[in-house]
Amino acid sequence: MPAPDGPAAVASAGQGAQRWSLGVIGAGQVVTNAHLPVLTTSLGTTLAWIFDIDSRKATSVARAQQARVCRFEDLRSGLSDVNIVLLAAPYGARSRYYELLADFPLVALFVEKPLAKTIEQHRAICRPYTDYQIGCDLNRRAADTVRTAKDLIEHRVFGALREVRAAFGHRGAMLGGGQYNSNLELAGGGVLFEMGIHYLDTVLFCSSAKDIAVESGHMIEDLGFDLHTEARLRITLADGREVPFDLTVSVLSDQQEGIDFVFDHASLSLSLSRTYLALRSRDHRYHADLSRAFAIQFVTSFQHIFSMWRDFLDGLTSRRAGFASAYSSLLTTKSLELLYSLPRRL
Ligand SMILES: NC(=O)c1ccc[n+]([C@@H]2O[C@H](COP(=O)([O-])OP(=O)(O)OC[C@H]3O[C@@H](n4cnc5c(N)ncnc54)[C@H](O)[C@@H]3O)[C@@H](O)[C@H]2O)c1
Repeated sequence: MPAPDGPAAVASAGQGAQRWSLGVIGAGQVVTNAHLPVLTTSLGTTLAWIFDIDSRKATSVARAQQARVCRFEDLRSGLSDVNIVLLAAPYGARSRYYELLADFPLVALFVEKPLAKTIEQHRAICRPYTDYQIGCDLNRRAADTVRTAKDLIEHRVFGALREVRAAFGHRGAMLGGGQYNSNLELAGGGVLFEMGIHYLDTVLFCSSAKDIAVESGHMIEDLGFDLHTEARLRITLADGREVPFDLTVSVLSDQQEGIDFVFDHASLSLSLSRTYLALRSRDHRYHADLSRAFAIQFVTSFQHIFSMWRDFLDGLTSRRAGFASAYSSLLTTKSLELLYSLPRRL
């Protein structure tokens, strides 16, 4: 296992900080703009090598980080030099790397979202790993606003949770910055898979859901890409109660972005595209912006990724899974699987 005293560990950075040796597969935007700035400046992690099918990209990152470029045929030897791999190639390009990594049980794995489209696939990806050894970058979980909403729900500060609504929708939106989005094989889906996943995961995470089911809904697809999903889901909470969850994710209509948690006495509105968490009385006469008080430490996307990685690395050290564990997002994958089974509408 990839514990700090494991065979692939490198020397300590001093003052108790652990230095981790990292290999990266996929040298795209999320790696250069988010993961590496965080990992190499603040988390005691050294980039040993980077691989990309586009060798120019890998070379450019390797130069900037003073790391090695790994060729595909050298990945096996590269894997014996590291204790963590970040897999950030697009969803549809990952299967051969999972196969290769399965031969290296001492190497922990951190995978970019989306991890899987079915529960069976999710379980198969996680199977070679103990829960703390595999992470997934569903990093909205780390935002202060999301953590605050989760705490307020857990402590029933406004009474019992009664219903949830979530929406993300921009007509004609271009998704993300990645170049794989127009390639169905690489992207694996459309707006639901790329963006909707964050809303599903945040709702399930904040409500500490125990199960999810779908009641009704439909999906509009074009050339295999989901363009519009509208559904009523049902979340089972820890106390056994079921609450309705209405979701719309679309590039065909404009939606008011965000998540509304409705309680007995108030509602919470949470945005995932800006720092915003607001409290409203049921009669809408009282309104307070809670983000000013609570969004302090984990506000920017860098801070969210930092928090995910810190949770994952702490888990490797203590051998205990935290919120970065890919095991903890199985229900998110279940909800994707349910939604992709909805009837199609023209
Ligand atoms: N968690 C988040 O908030 C977040 C944010 C952005 C992106 N992402 C996810 O990260 C992944 C990558 O996104 P991106 O924006 O960096 O995309 P990108 O298009 O910028 O980069 C993808 C990289 O993968 C490489 N690649 C493609 N096929 C490959 C293969 N078979 N083997 C090795 N490398 C291959 C490409 O050459 C490219 O360099 C996507 O799954 C995306 O959904 C997550």
